Amino acid sequence: MRFTDKVAVVTGSGSVRGIGRETALLLAEEGARVVVADMNLEGARSVSEEIEAKGRAAIFVQVDITDETSVKAMVDAAVAKYGRLDILVNNAGITQPITTMKMTAEDFQRIVRVNLFGTYLCSRAAIPEMAKNRYGRIVNLSSVSGKRGGGVYGGSHYSAAKAGILGFSKALAREVVDDGITVNCVCPGLVATDMRAGISDEKEHAMWETIPMRRPASAREIANTIAFLASDDASYITGEDIDVNGGSHMD
Ligand SMILES: NC(=O)c1ccc[n+]([C@@H]2O[C@H](COP(=O)([O-])OP(=O)(O)OC[C@H]3O[C@@H](n4cnc5c(N)ncnc54)[C@H](O)[C@@H]3O)[C@@H](O)[C@H]2O)c1
Repeated sequence: MRFTDKVAVVTGSGSVRGIGRETALLLAEEGARVVVADMNLEGARSVSEEIEAKGRAAIFVQVDITDETSVKAMVDAAVAKYGRLDILVNNAGITQPITTMKMTAEDFQRIVRVNLFGTYLCSRAAIPEMAKNRYGRIVNLSSVSGKRGGGVYGGSHYSAAKAGILGFSKALAREVVDDGITVNCVCPGLVATDMRAGISDEKEHAMWETIPMRRPASAREIANTIAFLASDDASYITGEDIDVNGGSHMD
């Protein structure tokens, strides 16, 4: 029960097979009161109900993480319901498997806007609430794509956004350390979620061969690392990133 009395917002947690849902469930299992936030209202509602069915506390909020007003409303909803905010998991993200010369300028801006700018907006909205209690945990979802370049499913815009999240997180970690807030990243490799929709089995299995463990991660395996960084077990870790990729990239 590492999260008893803690309040957590998990963005992008309304995806049925997603990392966010698994994280919301895990934090709730260990005592957190969870705000299930997603653009997909029905998805968020269903995950929130799933948590409540297990006898844990959750609310759901529809949010567009690229919209400042919407992000503020998400944080306000958390504080209105539970009185505080301790944990923010910046998990919502989108990808697009496309090469640089084929993508449009709008594609580039959209991918960076959701993944990177959204992470900035949510962090900025959450920090004042965390600072009030001199306690906070921000965990950001980067990706192996942001480190090695060339997404498994994403293009250069996705790599740029996920690399940007690494730099943003380190800079922010230094700024908020005196407020008792840590900022860390998780860098998944291939994960068995809906983000892979449309990939053929043949291509999927060819990808597995490039991974030393020869399989994708389960969403729970990523959630376990997010929960570690969100917990007091990681109290002396900030500005760090943890690879969870089956050995597909080692640095
Ligand atoms: N699946 C992978 O292989 C993989 C690998 C590395 C990193 N990641 C990262 O992990 C995170 C979660 O990925 P996933 O595979 O669970 O994805 P997913 O597609 O299953 O879930 C993402 C969720 O984000 C929500 N979302 C998208 N745009 C939003 C917005 N503007 N505002 C609010 N919500 C929005 C979607 O509605 C969806 O529910 C993402 O940041 C992704 O880039 C995933």
